[in-house]
Amino acid sequence: MNILEIIAKKRDGEKLSKEEIDYFIENYTSGVVTDYQAAALVMAIYIKGMDYEETTNLTLAMANSGEVLDLSDLGLVVDKHSTGGIGDKITLILLPIIASIGIPAAKMSGRGLGFTGGTIDKLESIPGYDTGISVEEFINNVKNIGISLMGQTLNLAPADKKLYALRDTISCIDNIPLIASSIMSKKIAAGAEKIVLEVTVGSGAFMKTIEDARKLSETMIGIGKLANKETICVLTNMNEPIGYSIGNALEVKEAIEALKGNMQDDVKEIILELGSNMMMLAGKGDNIEENKKVIMEKINSGEALNKFKELVQNQGGDVSYIDNPDKFEKAKYIIPVMAEKSAYVKGMKNDDIGYISCSLGAGRIRKDDPINNKVGIIINKKIGDKVESGEIIGYIHADDEIKGATAIKKLLNCYEWSDEPVEKERPVIEIIK
Ligand code: URA
Repeated sequence: MNILEIIAKKRDGEKLSKEEIDYFIENYTSGVVTDYQAAALVMAIYIKGMDYEETTNLTLAMANSGEVLDLSDLGLVVDKHSTGGIGDKITLILLPIIASIGIPAAKMSGRGLGFTGGTIDKLESIPGYDTGISVEEFINNVKNIGISLMGQTLNLAPADKKLYALRDTISCIDNIPLIASSIMSKKIAAGAEKIVLEVTVGSGAFMKTIEDARKLSETMIGIGKLANKETICVLTNMNEPIGYSIGNALEVKEAIEALKGNMQDDVKEIILELGSNMMMLAGKGDNIEENKKVIMEKINSGEALNKFKELVQNQGGDVSYIDNPDKFEKAKYIIPVMAEKSAYVKGMKNDDIGYISCSLGAGRIRKDDPINNKVGIIINKKIGDKVESGEIIGYIHADDEIKGATAIKKLLNCYEWSDEPVEKERPVIEIIK
């Protein structure tokens, strides 16, 4: 077997065997297969596709390309993962809730790249919070207080890391077999027994249509079945940001407010849907509506917020920032953005909103770009809202005056307007099991 034959086979639209996929992943991870050969094969996969069996074989080969975390000591762990979005602070709110219910919350999260943010960057805006703890500490924290959130220090699915970076440079990210295998390989390597996936759909997501999001979900659920990891997909709307903030410290502040019970409707609906399904998978209740009530009790009693404080303290973070979020350092310029006419918000270019936040310094274009925790965007008006001319539709938080002024113009360009009333969008589109 050699890589040239494998590339030619996929180029000509033939199905790859398990042995061929294993050969490719093993030799690409070790560097024997070069980046240009891998690029040719990935492009062939992108154009000719992969069937269900090939996608599963690719997933398992990538999952087994590095370390595989063993969380069996912790009991039944249910992982949660998002396919990426704008203003997605759901993990920060949901994991403490899950832990306060008594479900072990052990999650390795990622950093932001491109227009989407990452939970680890957000957590690092809390002074002192250590996202780089050892795996032993991670497991001990979950045993002791029921929760730990850390970055990916383990060598989990290194083949995916390499392939993902390569796909990013050859315009091959938005492909269902490649996304499904990328996500599921990491989830399988991360050791949870069951998985709830937030599959984002819309202008700020990789999946632009509900049909594609369904196909991606069904592929990932199928892979989960074969890997013996029951998986549920919750399709969520990404035509507008989740909640009202985009940017690291700004999103942590919104998450703290949410844990105090002050949640925007979209955040609440997504939290309740994901959380109630996680509870069901964890064997904590088959009645989804009853599960939602338990979640609200944990928020209203303050137990979920206390769990978040415990998490922060346990990982070296300064809890006084959670008690008093005004302590978070603010950006130098907080500039209101005013509507130029009276109208209803018809649409938002959500990926562009992500890019604006990135250009202010909240995200990174390249993997090693530094992050500015203070900057970002506050959104006051979303799809369906009525706006009067001159009304403040949002705020730009910038550390650089020129970047701030540019961001105002760009944010105004992200809004699409209608003279007629517009219906609000549903935050949760459907659940696929
Ligand atoms: N998230 C991933 O982890 N992989 C992809 O390919 C796309 C989104």
